[in-house]
Amino acid sequence: MHYSPEPFRIKIIESIRLISRPEREAALKEAGYNLFSLKAEDIFIDLLTDSGTGAMSQEQWASLMRGDESYAGARSYYRLKIAVEDIFGFKYFVPTHQGRAAENILSACLVKPNQWVPSNMHFDTTDANIRARGGRPANLVIDEAHDPANPHPFKGNMDIAKLKAFIATYGREQIPFGMITVTNNAGGGQPVSMENLRAVADVYHAAGIPFFIDAARYAENCFFIKQREPGFESKSVNEIAREMFALADGMCMSAKKDAIVNIGGLLCVNDENLFADIKNELILREGFPTYGGLAGRDLDAMATGLYEGLNEDYLAYRLQQTSYLATRLNEAGLPTIQPTGGHAVYVVANEVLPHIPNYEFPAQSLAVELYREGSIRGCEIGSVMFACLDPETSIWHYPKLELLRLAIPRRTYTQTHMDFVADALCRIKSRACSLRGYRLTYAPGLLRHFTARFEPL
Ligand code: F0G
Repeated sequence: MHYSPEPFRIKIIESIRLISRPEREAALKEAGYNLFSLKAEDIFIDLLTDSGTGAMSQEQWASLMRGDESYAGARSYYRLKIAVEDIFGFKYFVPTHQGRAAENILSACLVKPNQWVPSNMHFDTTDANIRARGGRPANLVIDEAHDPANPHPFKGNMDIAKLKAFIATYGREQIPFGMITVTNNAGGGQPVSMENLRAVADVYHAAGIPFFIDAARYAENCFFIKQREPGFESKSVNEIAREMFALADGMCMSAKKDAIVNIGGLLCVNDENLFADIKNELILREGFPTYGGLAGRDLDAMATGLYEGLNEDYLAYRLQQTSYLATRLNEAGLPTIQPTGGHAVYVVANEVLPHIPNYEFPAQSLAVELYREGSIRGCEIGSVMFACLDPETSIWHYPKLELLRLAIPRRTYTQTHMDFVADALCRIKSRACSLRGYRLTYAPGLLRHFTARFEPL
């Protein structure tokens, strides 16, 4: 596979250390075989998340130095305002400390008990913030999204027929707003097409329902549109982004992804009355509307990072790095969600380890083995995270897929690092049948993947 070189050179480095196999084994035991409980220092390549883990540029570090820490009306806020208006085009915005804070404020302002919020697929914090207000999130992604081998170019698309039927069933009064997540993280980092976004906007607007975009990885989504959707080849990613956001009434964004900052978020809207409510919520929970829970330097770095995240040389390299890793795994017979998404490679662990049943956590087994083999941390997205017990029948429901997500931090690791990861997984593949499952020894009732402890079987 052709691999274009990284469009940057390295000026500051952070050393990483590959500890020995016995040290890794001891670290695993100490962590109860839960990779969230490892010390980051004991990890060589950390692919747990691409959120807040990217490398800032020299311009962003310079922005940090220029940050204005005034409580109200800081210069850095006005720099950010120019970037946000230029890129997204909404009338009003507030900064927030991260994406979930924007989701919390939006849900607090709009969601009432028993109301529904449809999306292609809600990310888990969005889902939880809607539920926290008594609301009910609904996922209406196209069926192709559930088949990991299906090569559909826009597997993040919403099923328009399902959306229409959903609105007909529950009615506008029960749907305070509708959403769509670009790219669809919960479904493999898959993009949504402009055609689908237009159709979704039309359906929401015909019913009088405000339309919000979860824009965490919007730049990657726009670059996929440029690459894959007829009619967009010669448009710039900026133009595509403007076209996308012009369809919506607002957006929530975790800036820790495509704005390439270590902390930050945005909430944008066009409705003046809603904006007034948002500012009141923000002051209560985050801070004054011109800093929203961030330091002035964070606002400044975000203003710079928003433009860098749209740079097409960077985006071409970014998506290619992800697809390079996936291709290397696929060539070795390791199945991943197809086509490869923007920010992560999702290994289909139940196909790599068919002898381990879902109740013995095959994706957890693969994640633990990858740390043992290469000191590499990925993230289980399978039965540890999503299996749930039906309180009425006492029957466990298991998710359809057992995935190991390898999320790639932005501008942080090189191609050699990707080769190191691929080589480690290939070695595991050759002895896959010797891997065993895991048993939970401790699990809290909610969000158990963060703190659960395991024992090897
Ligand atoms: N929306 C999407 C699509 C996300 O992927 C995330 C975070 C959020 C919202 C919440 O943003 O973390 O800034 O509060 N995703 C991270 C991940 C945590 O690892 O995928 P946040």
